[in-house]
Amino acid sequence: MGHTTAILTAAGSGLRLGHPEPKALVRLHETPLLQHAARRLVMSGVIDHLVVTAPDGHESICRALLPEADVVVGGATRQESVAAGLARVPDSSDVVLVHDAARPLASPELIRRVVAAVRAGHRAVVPGVPVTDTITAVDPGAEGATAARGTVPRAGLRAVQTPQGFDRTVLDAAHAAHRLDGGLVTDDAGLVELLGEPVWLVPGEESAMKITTARDLALAELLLGAES
Ligand code: CTP
Ligand code: MG
Repeated sequence: MGHTTAILTAAGSGLRLGHPEPKALVRLHETPLLQHAARRLVMSGVIDHLVVTAPDGHESICRALLPEADVVVGGATRQESVAAGLARVPDSSDVVLVHDAARPLASPELIRRVVAAVRAGHRAVVPGVPVTDTITAVDPGAEGATAARGTVPRAGLRAVQTPQGFDRTVLDAAHAAHRLDGGLVTDDAGLVELLGEPVWLVPGEESAMKITTARDLALAELLLGAES
């Protein structure tokens, strides 16, 4: 039997959501996003230890919300927050899951699917969902009206979600190798890809959607209403 730690990233401020409190503390049906996400991790039955990266100055409220978790202060970027969480993973953990509090409704089934794929031998596992928009490339940094640089066939694309699961040594190596890469990479699987390690996709789900804007929060309310 292995030992699995989940790092729940919750240190972002939620600028695009635009609430006065950090996004992880915003409520969805009376319950903060952080607590929704943590409950589903616990309900999955495959998480032995929970580390939460808290927004600076909100450590004690996070501890009060999640007494069972090891709460650490996050960093200025998501990558720094995950690194702070990684430093708290017990030596006994051979599998580490990284999950966003901004995806509060990711299901226990999805969490189990990701951990099972890591335990089956895939050293980096992410949920992916088919893309419904047509996606075209532009020059990096382009804004407004600009040249299209080529449409990518949609059938060959997946949108990547969390939770993302890793063999602990692979995630440690990815973070150690790219500590100062300047934030080009937006998730942990991206860091692992830079190492040249393969990443395995399992089916994601609509309910693992990320809450970024007020519209997403309204959609999550609908999804939660349909769940209960
Ligand atoms: N996150 C974090 N530490 C940071 C930035 C983000 O732990 N310094 C976490 C967020 O709390 C969130 C996840 O990473 O759970 C995904 O980030 P995002 O959706 O971008 O959240 P925010 O950064 O809070 O939102 P915004 O970018 O709109 O400010
Ligand atoms: Mg952000």
